[in-house]
Amino acid sequence: MTSVQLRKEFLDFFEKKGHTIVPSSSLITDDLSVLFTTSGMQQFKPYYLGEKSPYGNRACSIQKCLRTSDIDEVGDESHLTFFEMLGNFSFNDYFKEEAICWAIEFLKEKCGIDEEKLWFTFFKGENDLLEDKESKDIFLRLGISEEKIFGFGKQENFWGPTGNEGPCGPTAEIHYDLTGKSCSLGKGCKPNCKCNRFIELWNLVFNEFYQNKKEELSHLKQKGIDTGLGLERLVAVMQNKSSVFETDLFESLGNSRILADHIRAIVFLAAEGIVPEKIGRGYILRRLLRKAIRENGEIIDLAKKVIEMYKDIYSELKAKETDILNIIQKEIQSFGKALEAGKKEYNKIKGDITGALVFELYSTHSIPLETTIAWAKEDKKEIKNIEDFYKLTKEHQEISRAGAEKKFGGLGKEAKSEEAIKLHTATHLLHSALRQILGNNVQQMGSDINSERLRFDFSFDRKLTVQEIKQIEDLVNQKIKQNLDVKCEQIKLEEAIKSGALSFFKEKYPDKVSVYSINDFSKEICAGPHSKTTGHLGDFKILKEKSSSAGIRRIKAILK
Ligand code: GLY
Repeated sequence: MTSVQLRKEFLDFFEKKGHTIVPSSSLITDDLSVLFTTSGMQQFKPYYLGEKSPYGNRACSIQKCLRTSDIDEVGDESHLTFFEMLGNFSFNDYFKEEAICWAIEFLKEKCGIDEEKLWFTFFKGENDLLEDKESKDIFLRLGISEEKIFGFGKQENFWGPTGNEGPCGPTAEIHYDLTGKSCSLGKGCKPNCKCNRFIELWNLVFNEFYQNKKEELSHLKQKGIDTGLGLERLVAVMQNKSSVFETDLFESLGNSRILADHIRAIVFLAAEGIVPEKIGRGYILRRLLRKAIRENGEIIDLAKKVIEMYKDIYSELKAKETDILNIIQKEIQSFGKALEAGKKEYNKIKGDITGALVFELYSTHSIPLETTIAWAKEDKKEIKNIEDFYKLTKEHQEISRAGAEKKFGGLGKEAKSEEAIKLHTATHLLHSALRQILGNNVQQMGSDINSERLRFDFSFDRKLTVQEIKQIEDLVNQKIKQNLDVKCEQIKLEEAIKSGALSFFKEKYPDKVSVYSINDFSKEICAGPHSKTTGHLGDFKILKEKSSSAGIRRIKAILK
């Protein structure tokens, strides 16, 4: 079966079981505490907490995901930076029995996987959390032999939350036996064994808990199912390959695993409007790009192949093709220049190469850590006090984030009417929507509000398309319709910045600041005042989008 057929099989299977097919959400999430979407459940987070789902209480999706935590493992058989996750979701509907039975049915009946090759795990309990005997019993009832069912603790069989807080719970997992051979590492060999005999296929999460910011668990009022099945891994198993890189998904992407992995991530990130930068998401893109460029000069051709392969599945790749290729081309040039200048500086270093010097190269010439490490390696030199690099980078990121946000015009004395307050809250929604749709390179450059309209200036280097304007309006209106609470808390400035609250000139603020949050969608340091909820703001409409000055766009919008 090809990967294209598999996508269809999966969605058909769950649609027949009453699930609404939901398109993948963006790689950039509403949740300000995470950089990227890392799993299918993120776009559904509120529905586990009781908010009414517009998709009914069963959904399925194929979600674009990006995980940078596995970046060091890229190049092995099964870890990827960008991947797609198949998932089925239940919000206060079916629970363990159906989730487990359907997963096994799909693998056996639709994917033709031999049950002999499947092994199973469940949560065996840890500290105050009880053993999930129910899942084990379901496996046994399905006729699976006890020798192939294993209990594990929290590390392996408890999942979530994504970001700072959210739904989470014990899991049951389905693993595939790749080799059929007991390993040489120990006595028994079971799922999660380091010998790589098994590949984890399907993670079934039983969302029963809510973990708050202090990492305390409480029971959710309703139970839910969240499952994640890596598309590339399943394709590898079905195509009888020992690695994801040997599947049809990678066949046109050359022999370098790292390059094949990175180019997919690069294309999908660039398609989200992310551009190479020194901080945040843009920095991840820059690192991936520069590593790919170092591997091979032909990355433009590879990027075209990725676009070709996915353009019918993800229309944004087609729409943004020129932008994506331009971003890559620009980075090839700027990296070339930076390398030349950086290498000159590097060659001047006498004595030890320290973390502080690595930072110097990074901050003045944008030389990524990996490049300096590679140079040092060639010279058979070690890098001393590398932790200084991380420390300095972190400080640098915090300062630039606060600085780059520029001064917020704020509300003048004359602008305290009810209408102006609503428009002020709408401005926060607009700001987050712009960052979500156009990418986090969007920075607020100014704002002006009166009782009739809002005006918002932001950094962006081209005209917005009609579709983008529509998407932004839709997203703001969606958040208005959801009638979200607008919360205000007084916290220390440092904590506010650390928590990802958008901020303006740091030095203007007292030690304690007000942070206004609108659910997970928006979080800004701001003096207010704001509406208490979003529900009564009205209909948000963008009247005009135009250039304000070089690299800065201006939006005028109203609430109807
Ligand atoms: N949300 C389940 C997973 O990512 O494995």
